[in-house]
Amino acid sequence: MKTTEKIGCGLLLTALLAFDVWGGDRLPAYKDAQRPVEERVEDLLQRMTLEEKVLQLNQYTLGRNDNVNNMADPVGDIPGEIGSLIYFGTSPELRNRLQYRAVEETRLGIPILFAFDVIHGFRTICPIPLAQACSWNPELVKKAAGVAARESSMSGVDWTFAPMIDVARDGRWGRVSEGYGEDPYANAVYCAAAVQGFQGDNLAEGPRMAACLKHYVGYGASEGGRDYVYTEVSRQTLWDTYLPPYESGVEAGALTVMSSFNDISGVPGSANPYTLTEVLKKRWKHDGFVVSDWGAIQQLRSQGVAADCAEAALKSFNAGLDMDMMNRCYDAHLADLVRAGKVSQERLDDAVRRVLRVKFRLGLFEHPYTPESTEEERFLRPEDLAVAEQLAAESMVLLKNEHNLLPIEKARRIAVIGPMAKSRFHLLGSWAAHGSGEDVESIFMGLEREFAGRAELSYAFGCGFDGEDTTGFAEAVSVARAADVVVLCLGEKANWSGENASRSTIALPAIQERLAREVAQCGKPVVLLLTSGRPLELCRLEPLSAAILQVWQPGVRGGAPAAGILSGRINPSGRLAITFPYATGQIPIYYNHRQSARPHQGKYQDIPSTPLYEFGHGLCYTTFSYGEPVVSCETFRRGDRITVEVDVTNTGSRDGAETVFWFVSDPVCRISRPVKELRHFEKRLLRSGETGRFRFEINPERDLAFVDEDGNRFLEPGDYYILVKDRKVKLTLVE
Ligand code: NOJ
Repeated sequence: MKTTEKIGCGLLLTALLAFDVWGGDRLPAYKDAQRPVEERVEDLLQRMTLEEKVLQLNQYTLGRNDNVNNMADPVGDIPGEIGSLIYFGTSPELRNRLQYRAVEETRLGIPILFAFDVIHGFRTICPIPLAQACSWNPELVKKAAGVAARESSMSGVDWTFAPMIDVARDGRWGRVSEGYGEDPYANAVYCAAAVQGFQGDNLAEGPRMAACLKHYVGYGASEGGRDYVYTEVSRQTLWDTYLPPYESGVEAGALTVMSSFNDISGVPGSANPYTLTEVLKKRWKHDGFVVSDWGAIQQLRSQGVAADCAEAALKSFNAGLDMDMMNRCYDAHLADLVRAGKVSQERLDDAVRRVLRVKFRLGLFEHPYTPESTEEERFLRPEDLAVAEQLAAESMVLLKNEHNLLPIEKARRIAVIGPMAKSRFHLLGSWAAHGSGEDVESIFMGLEREFAGRAELSYAFGCGFDGEDTTGFAEAVSVARAADVVVLCLGEKANWSGENASRSTIALPAIQERLAREVAQCGKPVVLLLTSGRPLELCRLEPLSAAILQVWQPGVRGGAPAAGILSGRINPSGRLAITFPYATGQIPIYYNHRQSARPHQGKYQDIPSTPLYEFGHGLCYTTFSYGEPVVSCETFRRGDRITVEVDVTNTGSRDGAETVFWFVSDPVCRISRPVKELRHFEKRLLRSGETGRFRFEINPERDLAFVDEDGNRFLEPGDYYILVKDRKVKLTLVE
């Protein structure tokens, strides 16, 4: 019998069995979709044996896996009672087969939850999250997450390990590409958007998948940008910097959370009762579950807090970590730990309840199987590609545009040079799920279409991404000499960022910089087009280039928007969500640093102390002028609401989108505060000549108050400043 036929018979059988086994006339409460979720959870829980409970708290793998770090389990060995599987398939068939085993061939028929890393798309790959953050368009980010949810859920995935919301300020860390940049507030806003996009409006109806906030918490503080290492995070910084995006994700309804690998000042994130239980579950009342990162429980031994797997399981579980992702610690030891009284029945039930709750909320008991569909129905639909393209367009950041070299309007001969020009695969970036290089439009393809009939394109490879082979230089130079303008396409390979992909320098390899020097010597204006998964050190490339466009890793539809910006069809609107240091040696450098004891001293002797491109930087083809901000009241009392408004006029001749960033600062406070902190932003299209009024509605408890090292919010009487562009207004809280 085919799986689909078996599944049909299975559903019938379930109905009949329910009739027989459960007393003749009614379904067990947990199978009754009309009952409230909590009632169903309790009913199912009290029917489960210890072994069945423990299996629900484990996640294995299923299917072919091309992530070098993860090995898939042989299908035949997977117990039907397993809680979750990481699913590497691209179609529902294998998933449904395993689901059949769970639903029809186990005593209680609890469906399996199928998970996968869908970080910036399943097959329709969108820009990497760091790029998405530069769009300052959370609605579009939400749409992109919705596209990913549709493709994933139609392929058999119920749960994504995303969004990653680790605030990251060190470009050497490869995982900087996976998050939304250096700012806690920006991460919080994008987190909520991604959660809403993934989970949809109605959890029990597709297309949707459960979100997972990761990596809880502090992983972005990895020392020296090295992966998996110790992190030094004070409680104050934990609350100021690393926790806010998670709180936002919990408020947005994220069903799950993933614990981190890092050791937070001596207590690993995967065995940390303060963050996992006290904060997440008790204070924020998150009632979904926490899954470990891959192997994070086992790794407690390497981190020196557990002698063996049994102790690692004990520490993690009692700290509040509910599900074991591929550690094989909970399945091996949890039942014994409960029998020995080291883990309470109460804690065990709490964890199982959390897992079951998520399965009920997702409607898995009612819809355990994924309907089969064709690839055409699932993947790369024109409307989904349009979302990817729009997001790519809004993510790209014009860093430099000397003498308005861009847009290219007059040039008739354009030389396109460099290793990234014709690359397709590397535009996908890391964690590209089931993305394929063949789906990608290269930069060269985009330029060819854009400039067809307007300018003649010539091409030279120049050099590889790294290595020492300079044999392509001569051709590059001759192509550059014959052109009016050079588009030099440099950057990083896809796997230079992502997990376990740290770099000691954020400069491009020397060979690419040498190529840039050779080409620049031809005297033709150079447009540097950069693709990367991190901010780059550009201090040597910047003087060689008249214009620089940061394209990031834009996904399947990067070519057309990059070309559209170069031609002027698109007015660039991306703004940096992460600082571009002048040089790697400045790291860590970020806009919201605490106030210095001597702001005018403490500079580097050998390099500038300011970044090359600061947070929020980004040029466009029009100009905006800001009026004086107007505040509804200059003094306020607790509980008041305040409005600050500013008029922004598009004073140029082209329509363009401006992102207005609203910062707050508290110059004198009981603890030293950052120089300024983003609290609100809004992006809006302004037609040429149009004036738009932008508004920041201030709730002082939310926007002006600060947290102490235990997360208590406090609002002190005194002066606060609201900063917008180069203007500021003072507000005073009086008692
Ligand atoms: C390890 C990574 O840290 C995490 O982000 C990912 O979700 C899991 N592996 C599963 O692939």
